[in-house]
Amino acid sequence: MSLIRTALLSVAALTFIAFVQFPEPLERSTNEDEQELAPPSDLALLMRAMAIHADSVKAGLGKKDRLPQFPKTFRNLNKTTPTKGMHIDAITFPTFSKDYLSKLDDLYDAPTAERPQAYNALVQSCANCHGTHCPGPLMRIRKMYAEPLGQ
Ligand code: HEC
Repeated sequence: MSLIRTALLSVAALTFIAFVQFPEPLERSTNEDEQELAPPSDLALLMRAMAIHADSVKAGLGKKDRLPQFPKTFRNLNKTTPTKGMHIDAITFPTFSKDYLSKLDDLYDAPTAERPQAYNALVQSCANCHGTHCPGPLMRIRKMYAEPLGQ
């Protein structure tokens, strides 16, 4: 009799433990939801502006004097706060960041006829950084390349 009682008690105890442990993964998924709802980081917002800028450069290719105004705020790329918990490599991120900014200068220095190549070099610098940081937008970036003028 006491054996059955012990057995029943341990079943009850196990059920209790299982019940108490169950809420943990639920709590975790709630935190993930909160993260998705968090406002985008300053870096994410800057990236959206960089993508819009590149799209408008592409739209104006081949038309004389059709570059958007030089986006001075992009110079802060290396100092802008990323999404919490995102890994930003202390060596490669500043290097890719500098490369993007020098391709941006080259684009604005390029004669109109050479703008498509300069623009493609800029898109390539986006892809280079995204190869090691935040690969999600790579699909979109790969579709941003322009055809050479006259094709
Ligand atoms: C120096 C590295 C680097 C360069 C250069 C770079 N990116 Fe990013 N990009 C990132 C990182 C890191 C994030 C993630 C930002 C965050 O979540 O805080 C990001 C995020 C994005 C996002 C998602 C933004 C969002 O809404 O969450 C897009 C789109 C994007 N980049 C497009 C581009 C385009 C287009 C270019 C070139 C014009 C570019 N990136 C150049 C590193 C880079």
